[in-house]
Amino acid sequence: MSDPLRVRILFDEAAIARRNEEMAQAIVRTTAPDLLVVAVLKGSFMFAADLIRSLHRAGQAPQVEFVHLSSYRAGTVSSGNVAILRDVESSVEGRDVLLVDDILESGRTLVFAKDLLMARGARRVFVAVLLEKAGKRAVEVQPDFVGFQCPDVFVVGYGMDVAHNYRQLPFVGVVDHGDKEPDLFGGT
Ligand code: IMP
Ligand code: MG
Repeated sequence: MSDPLRVRILFDEAAIARRNEEMAQAIVRTTAPDLLVVAVLKGSFMFAADLIRSLHRAGQAPQVEFVHLSSYRAGTVSSGNVAILRDVESSVEGRDVLLVDDILESGRTLVFAKDLLMARGARRVFVAVLLEKAGKRAVEVQPDFVGFQCPDVFVVGYGMDVAHNYRQLPFVGVVDHGDKEPDLFGGT
């Protein structure tokens, strides 16, 4: 069971909304008009939904696709194995693609997705993440658009989960466990 009252807010709704508008302006300036947005499920669903509406307000008319990737984790540590649970349907050949993900940590998920789309002939693959955890990278990947730098804590909300809980929160926060850590971390 999740208890929203035990979540300490890190980035509130207003701050996220403002940042989404700024990121959308930067994305429109950088990418082709016929952009294909590929949201990486599940964690990015809320961010992607807000970001594509910000893109609309910024004058872009992207197409939207989804890929469901799972990076298996032992506890809160990424194992490096990424599986495709659901693939994109559109051809990406010759197109500008914007991968949208919730958080960039080891980088394994986004490197996997970027390599996959480049191998399929995408013209350019850009990466937009809501959060970046510095100093956690296991593989080299530079995000093109970053919402916020995230402290090295396990965050939830705004689409992100711990053991399938807290995705519904409209803000990003940290669960206050007291002295008890949950033993099972699920989700992608
Ligand atoms: P990476 O492949 O290690 O970069 O893992 C990134 C993925 O791990 C993200 O897309 C999230 O799904 C998940 N993740 C990493 N850190 C957190 C966190 O603090 N809270 C929730 N999910 C996280
Ligand atoms: Mg994810």
